[in-house]
Amino acid sequence: MTGGNKIRKLEYILADAKEKGADTIVTTGGLQSNHTKITAAFAIKLGFKPILLLNGREPEVKKANLFINDLLGVEVRYIQVGNQKEMNQALDMVARKLKEEGKRPYVIPVGGSKGLGSLGYIDAYHELESQRRKMNLNFDWEFITTGSGGTFAGIYMGHLIHGSESKLVGVSPWLPAGEIRDQIIDCINEGAKYMDHSFLRYSSKVDPLTIHIDDQFIGEGYGKPTRAGMHALKLIAFTEGILLDHVYTAKTMACLLHYVETGIIEKKSKYYFGILVPQQGCLL
Ligand SMILES: Cc1ncc(COP(=O)(O)O)c(C=O)c1O
Repeated sequence: MTGGNKIRKLEYILADAKEKGADTIVTTGGLQSNHTKITAAFAIKLGFKPILLLNGREPEVKKANLFINDLLGVEVRYIQVGNQKEMNQALDMVARKLKEEGKRPYVIPVGGSKGLGSLGYIDAYHELESQRRKMNLNFDWEFITTGSGGTFAGIYMGHLIHGSESKLVGVSPWLPAGEIRDQIIDCINEGAKYMDHSFLRYSSKVDPLTIHIDDQFIGEGYGKPTRAGMHALKLIAFTEGILLDHVYTAKTMACLLHYVETGIIEKKSKYYFGILVPQQGCLL
């Protein structure tokens, strides 16, 4: 089953839930959230009861991930709130109620973005580095989609650990730069707590100015395709046979193409970009 880029985070988060003796997993996302669907599937597999809080009105006809949630027999509750913070607050309220009923809930915030989940993306960066070395490639630039911040936080930490000199760009499909940067910093600080002491010298280096976020490619908002994003999606499908998604990775690729077209990325470099496409774990 596909699950966006969330599986690496869940490896750590659901292990923690098991260790803490939870019996119920409560998480939240947009109506078509990949994160909530894949969390529900893994929760079932591991013997938890999943409860999903989806932000939006319940549609009459359940399509795509909503259809799959039904197939999985998952309890879905619909909420209508304005932002990620309020979605996380709604989770806490549900968890409190479950505790009163004698349940042992484990809360996973929007997108699984918490420090523990970011550790999965430090692992991803180790893999990326070893593939890069084997292929004898050098990147001057790396582009990462950053929706709720956890993926970028892990990649950023991996980048520091490996002393990478490439420029790391987080492309936001959803939140303004300041907001997503704050979420990334929270994930880095929380993730650093799980690292051994050698990491502390890296975490003390986290300076908001070193977190480069581009929020120029959001368009009309979350889940709304943009012209530049659809152009990028088609180009990569035609030329590489790789399918990007219009919500996240197509907007990131649109940003990368813009940097190339406008000369922000110098064309003369031999390998002038690397892009990590989290859900497929591949390099272009
Ligand atoms: C395909 C894809 N890329 C990137 C992201 C963003 O990751 P994060 O929420 O950790 O910032 C998501 C989140 O759902 C995703 O599904």
